[in-house]
Amino acid sequence: MLNDLHSIKKSVREEAERAGSLQDIQNLKVKYLGKKGVLTNKLKFLGSIPKEQRPEYGSSLNEIKKYIEALLNKQEDIFKSSELNKSLQTQQIDITIPGYYIPLGHLHPITLVLNEIVSIFISLGFTVEEGPEVELDFYNFEALNFPKDHPARDMQDTFFISDNVVLRTHTSSVQVRTMEKNTPPLRVIAPGKVYRCDADVSHIPMFHQLEGFMVDKHIRMSDLKGVLELFIHRVFGRNTSVRFRPSFFPFTEPSAEIDISCVICKGSGCNVCKGTGWLEILGAGMINPRVYEKAGYDPDLYTGFAFGMGIERVAMLKFSIDDIRLFPENDKRFLEQF
Ligand code: DAH
Repeated sequence: MLNDLHSIKKSVREEAERAGSLQDIQNLKVKYLGKKGVLTNKLKFLGSIPKEQRPEYGSSLNEIKKYIEALLNKQEDIFKSSELNKSLQTQQIDITIPGYYIPLGHLHPITLVLNEIVSIFISLGFTVEEGPEVELDFYNFEALNFPKDHPARDMQDTFFISDNVVLRTHTSSVQVRTMEKNTPPLRVIAPGKVYRCDADVSHIPMFHQLEGFMVDKHIRMSDLKGVLELFIHRVFGRNTSVRFRPSFFPFTEPSAEIDISCVICKGSGCNVCKGTGWLEILGAGMINPRVYEKAGYDPDLYTGFAFGMGIERVAMLKFSIDDIRLFPENDKRFLEQF
């Protein structure tokens, strides 16, 4: 019986020597050690062996099992590492070759500038409101004290959808919409797209504006000056001079246009500022009491200021860009510079 075990050991050794692949070794494992394998069968018949021979036979069986396991595991490792070596040689990769360049996108310059401006006003406690781009004539004009047939409407080159519906020509349309829904104090900015039927180096039919307004009891023009100066210094630097120039808008009284010292020549006069040393950057003023009446506010109780700016204009001055049409063109040679 023990001879029997020795011949098993011998044949495993011979078969393992003859094995030519990892698969052969795995087959041998199944043949000898598997559920229906040769050794497993022997173990099953341990009970039919005379009692006195059982211990010796059992321990030899265990010993042989361990021997076969070790032998086949070792052979298996040898085949595994030789197959790995083979595949490393045939499928060589050179990890020193530079990787493929995957072009990464980034935010559009208008979005970058808009985000910067919005975050400045948020840091001053302003909240963001949005309004529709397809707007009622009422919010775009009527409520802002542009009566029908008033010449100030002509300045706005309006796209009409119907008699009473327009593509908003400015984000000032958000003023009365916000006032109707809230009571003061209000500290609001309204960024967004606006539309005007106009196109040349400094005009495109769709552009971006940011409207801002503050309404409460006792708001004064000096509050407007303080907020705008702080904003301008943050965007263009602390050495930028700011000038308020009298102007007219139907929805503000008094009204002003705000200029900054030229970002190119610093005020001495150049092509960009047409020799004046100043660049116009936004419109502003104290909100006209007529606007409060339209919104249902008591004009004797509340005062406030409003301002509006073109984002493309700010971006052009900030980055010295001389043609507004570059923004919607989406030429990557332009966009990659930001
Ligand atoms: N809405 C004006 C425009 O598009 C800009 C503007 C001027 C907004 C004066 C204001 C303001 O709030 O007070 O031309």
